[in-house]
Amino acid sequence: MRHDYQDAERAGAYHAFGLSADGRVKHAVIGDAVLRRLAGARDLDIVEIGTGTGWLAGLVRPQARRVVALDGSAALLEEARRAVPGVEFLEADLQRPLPLPDRAFDVALACLVLHDLRPLPRAFAELARVLRPGGKLLVIDLNAYYAHPVGSWKRTWRERLTRAPKGIRVASYGDWLRREDRTFTWGDGHESWFTPLPELVNDAVGAGFVVTGLDDLVPPDAPDGRGLAGRMHHFPAYLLLEAVRSA
Ligand SMILES: C[S@@+](CC[C@H](N)C(=O)[O-])C[C@H]1O[C@@H](n2cnc3c(N)ncnc32)[C@H](O)[C@@H]1O
Repeated sequence: MRHDYQDAERAGAYHAFGLSADGRVKHAVIGDAVLRRLAGARDLDIVEIGTGTGWLAGLVRPQARRVVALDGSAALLEEARRAVPGVEFLEADLQRPLPLPDRAFDVALACLVLHDLRPLPRAFAELARVLRPGGKLLVIDLNAYYAHPVGSWKRTWRERLTRAPKGIRVASYGDWLRREDRTFTWGDGHESWFTPLPELVNDAVGAGFVVTGLDDLVPPDAPDGRGLAGRMHHFPAYLLLEAVRSA
């Protein structure tokens, strides 16, 4: 399946975001939470789906025997291979079965990618398949109560272009729940799917995971300004779900 990140311009913009001040905040907050959940474990076999530029795969590399990181964007993988040594980067369509054997990994990471994959139970089933019993899954994704499309923590392109006053616009959560088609569009036209938190948890449980933790990802201090750190301080737009694959 073709998806937006295969477009070189979009991939370039995503890479540039990773290098920006907001991108560094995102990496720091998510990275700290992931490392805390790995609690210094060593010699792990780790798989990451939707690795993008590979920054998270690189962060966990010191704790791993092997890191395999998958993405469907050749442009982002090219950057990842250049910037992140010691990781096996594979180009793969995550809407299809993962090109990986059963029970091969101790840890699976899915950072800000499940909102791009449908149906969600199938994505969880694939993650369960490639994990060993007792293996750990860490999902970082949009917090359904605060992030796009319900709590609009981003300004829209229209607001940017028209310089309309900044403000938080909140769409009705109930309306999103009742929608049959939960597709939403980001400011740049990329489409993702809205997943209510109970559905995220229930789909993980349905695929054989036992949920062992849930974190709001909030920066450690209260920064001023309208950057990502300030916005995350007010609206915890990302969450981390930890689950263990049952035997
Ligand atoms: C929002 S980005 C997150 C990237 C990275 N995990 C991060 O946190 O910076 C989503 C990533 O998932 C990948 N992706 C989305 N849908 C995909 C699909 N169907 N097959 C393969 N990769 C996909 C994109 O190429 C992109 O790199």
